[in-house]
Amino acid sequence: MKQIKLFDSREKALENLIENKPFTVSINGLKICLVRNNSGISAFKSTCPHAGASLSEGFVNFNNEIVCPLHGYRFNIFDGSEKSGHSCELFIYGLELRDDGLFITLR
Ligand code: FES
Repeated sequence: MKQIKLFDSREKALENLIENKPFTVSINGLKICLVRNNSGISAFKSTCPHAGASLSEGFVNFNNEIVCPLHGYRFNIFDGSEKSGHSCELFIYGLELRDDGLFITLR
């Protein structure tokens, strides 16, 4: 496992992650989507497990679910569970928000 710093401070992370607006980062060719809301901050693979659309172009609903822009499947942004009953789970990454930055754990 490898931990990578995404932002240099807690303030920078909170400033850049606008509430419920997907934010995409690319790390080693991986596209990862970050979402912050009043439940916390999540990080997940930006590629939809159904048919590969970009979840970064979707939206987050009031149930902490990212809604895919292509077919509308819904995935919980914190545990990755698929809520529409037609696909597999979303890949979730571990995050740690500290005073010195926001860190993601890659497996
Ligand atoms: S590609 Fe995301 S729901 Fe089909």
